[in-house]
Amino acid sequence: MNLLMSFCVVLLDLMTVHSHMLKQGRIVGGYTAAPNSIKYIVSLQSTRGQHFCGGSLVHRYWVVTAAHCNIGAEHMMIVAGDYIVNTFEGTEQYAKPHRLVTHPLYNSSTNNADIMLIKLRAPMVLNKYVSLAPLPRQGTGVVEGQVCRVSGWGYSSLGGGQARFTLRTVTLPIVSTARCNSSESFNGNITVNMICAGYRTGGKDACKGDSGGPLVCGGRVYGLVSWGNGCGDAKFPGVYTAVSKFRRWIDQTIYGSHLRCSKY
Ligand code: ARG
Repeated sequence: MNLLMSFCVVLLDLMTVHSHMLKQGRIVGGYTAAPNSIKYIVSLQSTRGQHFCGGSLVHRYWVVTAAHCNIGAEHMMIVAGDYIVNTFEGTEQYAKPHRLVTHPLYNSSTNNADIMLIKLRAPMVLNKYVSLAPLPRQGTGVVEGQVCRVSGWGYSSLGGGQARFTLRTVTLPIVSTARCNSSESFNGNITVNMICAGYRTGGKDACKGDSGGPLVCGGRVYGLVSWGNGCGDAKFPGVYTAVSKFRRWIDQTIYGSHLRCSKY
């Protein structure tokens, strides 16, 4: 075994997220994304094909999502290359989970450390429709007012059968933790492992079913849709898992301590 165990910096492709400006939203106040423009987003579905959470492909074998999306590996199917979530378009790739790794600090009552990695049974094939999400470096921050983009198939279970669920996206500014934690807002419930995003006037937000999906700032997935209070409420921005606090954990989980740098 090679004693020269070194820490590799895994350089993932920088990706720009483009989207068309159409209107209306499921993601609240957002737009329909251009087909297959957000290639690293995945849909987590029940084995019956019901979408329930989003995620991001960070390695051919691994997806990052929210810990509260854990419904048990045997009940889950991961779909990459999707656009209209319950219509077969020929670009989809399906994989079952091999293993779910919930963050050890995840607390379902406070939502702290709401992050989970899913190892797939078979790797996704990277192509025109499927790519890897760039992640932020450990400990890097976003600043108040920085504009980010959240995307998802967020659907309230109302629809049931026939509706077509097209990927939607909306841009949102980062809200400082101080403001998000104020007594008029989340009143101290925002931990250092969370970031908030939303307009002071509300109206644009992630919502139910967008959970686990990416909040992308400067081309990197800085947030995972985690929780909120209603959707699009002016007083309550959306709350996201701060991915940069978990970059080391992500790399250690995926690559272990025996990184073979030459491979990457
Ligand atoms: N927990 C919700 C879900 O399971 C996501 C909530 C996000 N809410 C918000 N207002 N940003 O999909």
